[in-house]
Amino acid sequence: MSEQVPTDRDVREHFAERAASYTGGQGDTVEAMVDMAAPDPDALVLDVATGTGLVAFALLAEITGDGYVIGVDFTDAMLARAAEERGAGEDAGNGRMALAAADAAQLPFPDGMFSVVTCRFSVHHFTHAIPAMREMGRVLAPGGRLVIGEFAMPEEREKAEYFNRMERTRGHSHVQAFSPSQLSQMMADVGCPVAETRLLKREVLASEWLESANTTDENREIVRKMLWDSVEDDLGGLSPQRVGDDLHLTRHEVVLSGVRA
Ligand SMILES: C[S@@+](CC[C@H](N)C(=O)[O-])C[C@H]1O[C@@H](n2cnc3c(N)ncnc32)[C@H](O)[C@@H]1O
Repeated sequence: MSEQVPTDRDVREHFAERAASYTGGQGDTVEAMVDMAAPDPDALVLDVATGTGLVAFALLAEITGDGYVIGVDFTDAMLARAAEERGAGEDAGNGRMALAAADAAQLPFPDGMFSVVTCRFSVHHFTHAIPAMREMGRVLAPGGRLVIGEFAMPEEREKAEYFNRMERTRGHSHVQAFSPSQLSQMMADVGCPVAETRLLKREVLASEWLESANTTDENREIVRKMLWDSVEDDLGGLSPQRVGDDLHLTRHEVVLSGVRA
């Protein structure tokens, strides 16, 4: 079966396999998230589903006072890569960062502990996205910032369904993407109404996009066909354009920053 909604076990297995080659894509979303999180030098920061720690390390560079950054993830191999990177970086051993295993839907922290909570490219992998969002709101102190970076699913229902079908077939760790307005509503529902939204674009070739998710040969063909079928009418919101035998895609990303009431 090409398109099934994955379980937590599938998601963990997928990232355990991908950990060694995971790059996290271009840094624009990371830069926007750090800018919008704007942590003060003494901030206590939590990066949820930190993976190899891309956002956590970028935030750590801003924490020049008595602040502290914690990165949590539920895939050990991704955390192991983050730990290696920390060991290699100039911040190694400065005692201002910790990495821990935790499920986003059950964060092991008290209410109101953090002044900034971030989460990049992970909400669409959560099997319990709403409880995870609730947890992120719960651990934020009043006035703290919740900053979510995500792929922006199209707002139109039919395009959104096509987009989710392609994404699930591409990589067996895609649970459910959300549109910018859905993410905004989810953040408002957990007491963090959105104060700022930024939209970004990422240009990518279909061949690279399929490579980056370890897509099986069979599923690669299915997604490739779905993309070629949508050249005329942009059925899934990726605006495919022919480039020789390949397709040029435009991926839309969104960063939302909400303030904890
Ligand atoms: C695409 S990676 C993003 C990693 C990182 N935030 C970044 O921007 O590069 C998704 C991460 O979400 C983690 N993840 C998925 N579901 C999770 C959950 N329920 N709890 C904690 N981590 C989870 C995976 O293990 C993986 O490391």
